[in-house]
Amino acid sequence: MIPKILLVDDELPFEALIRRHFRKQIRAKEMELLFAANGLDALDKLQVEGPVDLVITDINMPEMDGLTLLEKIGIFDSTIKTVVLSAYGDMRNIRTAMNRGAFDFLNKPIDFQDLEITISRALKQVQEIRENQQKLRAAQTQLIQSEKMSALGQLVAGVAHEINNPVGYITGNIGIAEEYLQELIELLELYQTYYPEPTEEIRKKITEIALDDLINDMPLLISSMREGTDRICFLSTSLRTFSRSDADHKVAFNLHDGIESTLLILKYRLKGKDGRPTVEIIKEYGDLPLVMCFAGQLNQVFMNIIANAIDAFDMGNLDFEKVIPTIRISTEVMPANNSVAIRISDNGPGMSEAVKHKIFEYLYTTKPVGTGTGLGLHISRQIVVEKHGGRLSCESEVGAGATFIIELPL
Ligand SMILES: Nc1ncnc2c1ncn2[C@@H]1O[C@H](COP(=O)(O)OP(=O)(O)OP(=O)(O)O)[C@@H](O)[C@H]1O
Ligand SMILES: [Mg+2]
Repeated sequence: MIPKILLVDDELPFEALIRRHFRKQIRAKEMELLFAANGLDALDKLQVEGPVDLVITDINMPEMDGLTLLEKIGIFDSTIKTVVLSAYGDMRNIRTAMNRGAFDFLNKPIDFQDLEITISRALKQVQEIRENQQKLRAAQTQLIQSEKMSALGQLVAGVAHEINNPVGYITGNIGIAEEYLQELIELLELYQTYYPEPTEEIRKKITEIALDDLINDMPLLISSMREGTDRICFLSTSLRTFSRSDADHKVAFNLHDGIESTLLILKYRLKGKDGRPTVEIIKEYGDLPLVMCFAGQLNQVFMNIIANAIDAFDMGNLDFEKVIPTIRISTEVMPANNSVAIRISDNGPGMSEAVKHKIFEYLYTTKPVGTGTGLGLHISRQIVVEKHGGRLSCESEVGAGATFIIELPL
């Protein structure tokens, strides 16, 4: 970021003088200069021009003087440094300025060497403060994220674990029940062989229970019970895959397992509702090796991106007579840069260039209050870039859906 300095002075020649002096730095894009003619004008510029690092202001000006401006800047953005220009020996104003948080003062007429030193000192401080703020914010996000994940993860892993035991009884006993039944049927057949003429009461019972159908149906019944328990086992394994706790070290992970477990968890959301048909999932999985990664965190990334696509289908005012909501997930090894790429595309409403520029920003959301927090992609990028040294990018146009590309080094 090029440091931005706002100079505030009502004397016209001032601007030309300063510009001339710093022309090389301006051309080399080492600094950007803005000018304002008084305090009010300066406040306007601060609001319009985006983050300014340093304000250098005269004291006596019409409309709003420099000392009032100092106070207002403090309220507007306390990280901006201010330097006041004062007449030589004007101790009273200088004291007031310092008390209002000015960083330094310079005497008029300006000594350019002094000005340059002051500017570079001030800019260095602003930069340090802003960097620290950034770090603090990153740490906060991480904390929220890991709190959220570990609470959710523990819950999910706990439930999965609790499910396992009762399912264990059922799967264990189905086999035995099948065996017992088989033996009872054999016994029945023996009876039929040796006592082919049963009594009236037995004959009635045989008709009543439709014995032949019952015996024929038995294997189907058992196999559908087996399938049910298999599914529960798969679900429980997926839940545990999804919520793998891997806070401190990377593990070799099958990314496809991660994607599958995420899809399973989102299954309920993928189902059609309120006029939207069920979201179709097309998988184009390549031949991926295991990837060293923080598996639980990557699952969170898959989750954020796929959930966003579903949100986009739900909120995008799409004509479902014409579009079948579809999410395409493809994976491949990219030998050229020794990485794997996971592409998640949707055919939803897409986004404008302006929105696309901001989606990874902290707290940026276009969703109504209470729906989105604007953290999903910010956190996802942190996980992919900072935790894994990878890349997360987005391609999208209005009306043409969106594609998110996760690249992870091998
Ligand atoms: N697939 C997509 N299609 C269209 N817009 C998208 C898509 N994915 C993300 N966006 C846009 O990016 C914004 C930021 O997404 P992000 O996941 O960071 O936050 P969010 O979904 O709004 O809230 P959160 O994920 O924290 O609940 C979204 O509000 C949306 O405008
Ligand atoms: Mg989101």
